[in-house]
Amino acid sequence: MKGVILAGGTGSRLHPLTRITNKHLLPIYDRPMINWCIEALVHAEVTEIMLVTGGTHAGEFLRLLGNGYEFGIDRLSYGYQEKPGGIAEALGLAARFVDGDPVLVMLADNIVEQSIKPMVDAFRAEARGARILLTPVEEDEHLRHLGVPSFDEGRITGIVEKPEQPPSKFGVTGIYCYDADVFDVIPSLVPSGRGELEITDVNNHYINEGSMAYDVLEGFWGDAGESIDAYYTVNDFVRAHGANKG
Ligand code: G1P
Repeated sequence: MKGVILAGGTGSRLHPLTRITNKHLLPIYDRPMINWCIEALVHAEVTEIMLVTGGTHAGEFLRLLGNGYEFGIDRLSYGYQEKPGGIAEALGLAARFVDGDPVLVMLADNIVEQSIKPMVDAFRAEARGARILLTPVEEDEHLRHLGVPSFDEGRITGIVEKPEQPPSKFGVTGIYCYDADVFDVIPSLVPSGRGELEITDVNNHYINEGSMAYDVLEGFWGDAGESIDAYYTVNDFVRAHGANKG
């Protein structure tokens, strides 16, 4: 199983902090945000990783992470996204690195309290289709910033990206497992209203194919890039409780 960490984007929701650095290099408690994501993958025994970033601060990742050995990574590759074309486009840059293996994809601004290993192990056992991680979210205002699934008798029937009327009380986290077919799906996508190739469209492809599984995450989940308030909520949580436990 390979890992792809997506750490691009303009970070516009955290301006002006992100005018001078990449969002994923901002601190979460005692280390840069990206380090928590790497820890999550290494805990799940995913140690061959490609980090995809973009923008003007890409070199800082190399300076921070080097060859990755210090963090438990066996092989660390880097990819560069020329322009912010969306999460799915960024993932497409990892096709040759992934080279036919199943892949765990994680958005580097996502932070989890509990280890993601159970979800990754469940996907390893199948190694086909896709598997996503959901988190319960109460407030509709929060759900309007996320991908939100609809259900029928416990099966996901579709995901709506940033819905005005959220169809359920679950958010799609930025943690996804795919089989190698994902790299055939990405070229068939068309840009969304925000001009990006959406990971939600990739997920809907697997849902329509009937090969999407999901788990519901226990414990805290945060997207530290969602807003400045979310960034501080994640900071406060991690400082008090840590992350990637179990
Ligand atoms: C992305 C996904 C969204 C998901 C979220 C989780 O949103 O498009 O479906 O719920 O990550 O962090 P973005 O952060 O690009 O707005």
